[in-house]
Amino acid sequence: MKTVIFYYSGTGNSLWSARLLAQGLAEVSLRPMKKADALATGDAEAVGFVFPVHVWGIPVPVVQFIEKLSLRPRVYVFALAVNAGQVSRTLIQLRKMMTRRGLKLAAGFSIVLPSNYIPWGGPGPAERQKSRFENARVKITEAAACIAGGRDGPIEKGPLWQRIVFTAIYKMTFKQIHKMDKDFWSDDNCNSCAVCVQICPAKNIELKAGKPVWHHNCEQCLACIQWCPQESIQFGKKSPAYERYHHPQVSLQDMLTHEGEN
Ligand SMILES: Cc1cc2nc3c(=O)[nH]c(=O)nc-3n(C[C@H](O)[C@H](O)[C@H](O)COP(=O)(O)O)c2cc1C
Repeated sequence: MKTVIFYYSGTGNSLWSARLLAQGLAEVSLRPMKKADALATGDAEAVGFVFPVHVWGIPVPVVQFIEKLSLRPRVYVFALAVNAGQVSRTLIQLRKMMTRRGLKLAAGFSIVLPSNYIPWGGPGPAERQKSRFENARVKITEAAACIAGGRDGPIEKGPLWQRIVFTAIYKMTFKQIHKMDKDFWSDDNCNSCAVCVQICPAKNIELKAGKPVWHHNCEQCLACIQWCPQESIQFGKKSPAYERYHHPQVSLQDMLTHEGEN
């Protein structure tokens, strides 16, 4: 089955998940959602989306990308929603987006990996991170078998209370996300290396007088703060104390070139 997997990733968890999933599928092409030329899916019989959960739903740029994507009728659609333990209603949201287009989301898996959401603290103890990587590896391998067979799988979701409470927050914040970069700042360790400028998928950062400036077109992927080699980018007051995170098997180069091995 000719398959295209589109991924979006701030700190490599979704890129790693997409690469692992691709290893279990034949005739697969892995494409970053950001590429302008990605919008045509050609003769793909299966199309998959791999992306992080943001604020208990689908990230804004992922919604915008999927809405613009051309999809063949009856294409087999699948997804991995990569999260830190609260997938909430994300995959139901995607199923609805597909239904509106007359398509079916055949399988939607929740993949739990360490958190990159630094305002909640760091990624957690090393042991917990390790068990999340191991569990995710098993689950993605199983998901690949389901998808390779073109079978229907689960559409995974969080508990009802989570879907009710957090979906309201998702809806409230959706239009505000681009402004949430007001809490970013850089400390005296900044050496003007411009990694933040290169890694930002929204091209929202520029250096002014050698220091990053955010232009309120933020996607909140947190790539800038998490990939800063000097750990000089901060978010609010507490981040200086929090450990930085990116997936250990994904490098900065992988993120910039969209390549690498699992
Ligand atoms: C703005 C933002 C919001 C997030 N919201 C959630 C959430 O609602 N539920 C959850 O489980 N994880 C949440 N996370 C954590 C990420 O989904 C998780 O760490 C994911 O693996 C990151 O994937 P990536 O490295 O591909 O960007 C959030 C992260 C960010 C940056």
